Amino acid sequence: MLVARPPAKVNLTLSVGKRREDGYHELRSVFLRIGLADRLTVSAAAANERDELAVTGLPGCPVEGNLVLRALEVLRRDRAEGPPLRASLEKQIPMGAGLGGGSSDGASALDLATQAWGIDLPSAQLDGLAIGLGSDVPFFAANVPVALVEGRGERVSQLPAVVGGAGILLAISTLSLSTGSVFARFDEIGRHSAGEATDLLAEALRGGLEGAALADMAGSLSDANALWPAASSLAPELVERRAWLEQCSNRLWMMSGSGPTLFAIFPSVAEAIAGGEELAQQPTDAMRGVMLCATDLESPDPAWRQEWPTDH
Ligand code: C5P
Repeated sequence: MLVARPPAKVNLTLSVGKRREDGYHELRSVFLRIGLADRLTVSAAAANERDELAVTGLPGCPVEGNLVLRALEVLRRDRAEGPPLRASLEKQIPMGAGLGGGSSDGASALDLATQAWGIDLPSAQLDGLAIGLGSDVPFFAANVPVALVEGRGERVSQLPAVVGGAGILLAISTLSLSTGSVFARFDEIGRHSAGEATDLLAEALRGGLEGAALADMAGSLSDANALWPAASSLAPELVERRAWLEQCSNRLWMMSGSGPTLFAIFPSVAEAIAGGEELAQQPTDAMRGVMLCATDLESPDPAWRQEWPTDH
């Protein structure tokens, strides 16, 4: 049996250009891999079976159309020879959260299936399969801790990792947002961004950036997600939640990807946990249904998590 732990990401910056003719947008984004991962296993199925997938962990994660199965399909289209596989996916990364979970599962499935079938695809061919699965998949397929991601998502340039790591506190909603509808609202609002924050952060990372210094950059990252106006107009509760989080934690919060997950950066995971514990003691309706989750940048399982008490 082959095992992978597909990790989540947050977008530290996300600048978005105009809609292209193919419907996608030109992006410039710094992706940061974080310590929250699904678990994917792949083993041989009986010879007469088809590829199959079982999903556990979180309710509502579809089998049909799951990027794990789509990864097997596209590999078979290129190299139809492999024996049938049985995949098992244990979800921990919420779906439609802006954390890239489904894309990461797809990238891991490409990796495990090529291992299972003993095939060694040229990297250009794998890159093509990855972007064919989805815009976030090339980042996960590159298997790097931090990257500047450009184009539709297919240009991935590795950046140096955060020196000594960092802590991330996530505020994950039960609500999910469809990436396509957030981009559609973005087009209606029409506020494109050039991406100065992306350049500034990439430059700082290239110079060697510690967790505390990254946390100190929150001021320049706080407006650096061009999808915030669109996501928060589709999910207006995010505005109040973000304001509450900022006021109570005395720290700036950002949105990952197309949302709705909000996050704050701490110098260390211990400080992220302490920040989370402090927030969890304060009553508010703004956090109803939200799970707080403190992670480092590496461990597959988060260090601390707490669901917001619903009786607040
Ligand atoms: O590539 P993926 O299937 O993840 O994209 C989901 C949706 O997000 C697309 O259908 C498109 O509406 C939007 N998108 C975009 N520009 C990108 C990436 C995604 O418009 N670079």
